[in-house]
Amino acid sequence: MTQRLPFDEKTARDLISLTGAEPRMLVQILRVFVENFGFVNDDMIRLLASELNLSRAEVHGVVSFYHDFRTSPPGQHVVKICQAEACQAMGSRALTDHAKQSLGIDMHATTEDGAVTLEPVYCLGNCACSPAVMINDNVYGKVDANTFDTLISKHAGQTS
Ligand code: FES
Repeated sequence: MTQRLPFDEKTARDLISLTGAEPRMLVQILRVFVENFGFVNDDMIRLLASELNLSRAEVHGVVSFYHDFRTSPPGQHVVKICQAEACQAMGSRALTDHAKQSLGIDMHATTEDGAVTLEPVYCLGNCACSPAVMINDNVYGKVDANTFDTLISKHAGQTS
């Protein structure tokens, strides 16, 4: 899995500075925050508003518009199931239902033990092998319910 940095203001200020401390760079900075810290919390929103001379409401509005900008720490493993057209045609909805039931959580949620966060994604560039799933940084194709459970067991040591 991808290692995340603990949030601290100095690192956050450095990332803002490296990305470009301008209001038009807000979405890019939020992406960098999620890549580095794993999520965007209220402290980060406050810092961004201050550094970019925006209101907290403006920053919060952008954060809540994009599903990719998590507002709480993800689980140890992030599992993304493709919901785009090619994967839907090959059963990603049924696979998603299975995943929710198997893990006991909804989309954008994390298992109680903090092992797995389940998220939708819209095309992983693996359309020829639909339905596609990404676990951490690994993409898997032609995933059915059994394969899903095996992958979860391999990555997170749990199936249900
Ligand atoms: S539509 Fe699912 S990988 Fe492209």
